[in-house]
Amino acid sequence: MNVALIGFMGTGKSTIAKYMHSEFGMEVVEMDQIIAEREGCTIAEIFAQKGEEYFRKKETELLKEVQVKDHVILSCGGGVALRNENISIIKENGNIVLLTASPDTIYERVKAQEDRPLLKGKMNVEAIKELMETRRTAYENAADIIVETDGKSAAQICEEIREKLEKDGNV
Ligand code: S3P
Repeated sequence: MNVALIGFMGTGKSTIAKYMHSEFGMEVVEMDQIIAEREGCTIAEIFAQKGEEYFRKKETELLKEVQVKDHVILSCGGGVALRNENISIIKENGNIVLLTASPDTIYERVKAQEDRPLLKGKMNVEAIKELMETRRTAYENAADIIVETDGKSAAQICEEIREKLEKDGNV
């Protein structure tokens, strides 16, 4: 089975995916990075030049490619879990782990980064909180397990993921 990390921007999906690669040797599929490489530009440029809908299509296409693989840790962009089609594709062969963090923590993690078109001009705790609220239900409904990341190390988060997946009989 694969493991898909979902959640809001800055919840640590990429960091945890890398850690799980080093701990468990799982192949990492870093969705944003792959899409950006294939398109030959940054995520912000894709949004600006081709539009969000185009980017969302690329995400779904990539999920279909990955779904046939095994033992993959899938680091999803923050919008992936908002589409039912994407959730169905992932669940065919994977468990979904929702990573969460408080708006303050997210802000501290992402404030210096510029490649997040949805936070352009809205890089503040309030805007993060608002967008997070609109997504909360979709994220929670998609998740097999939920792991809070505030104040925890990558090692602690990985251990918690492993324990919870085992407990649920998911691995
Ligand atoms: C998005 C999150 C980003 C990236 C794009 C859209 C979102 O990924 O896919 O900017 O809709 O939340 P990260 O969650 O890795 O920042």
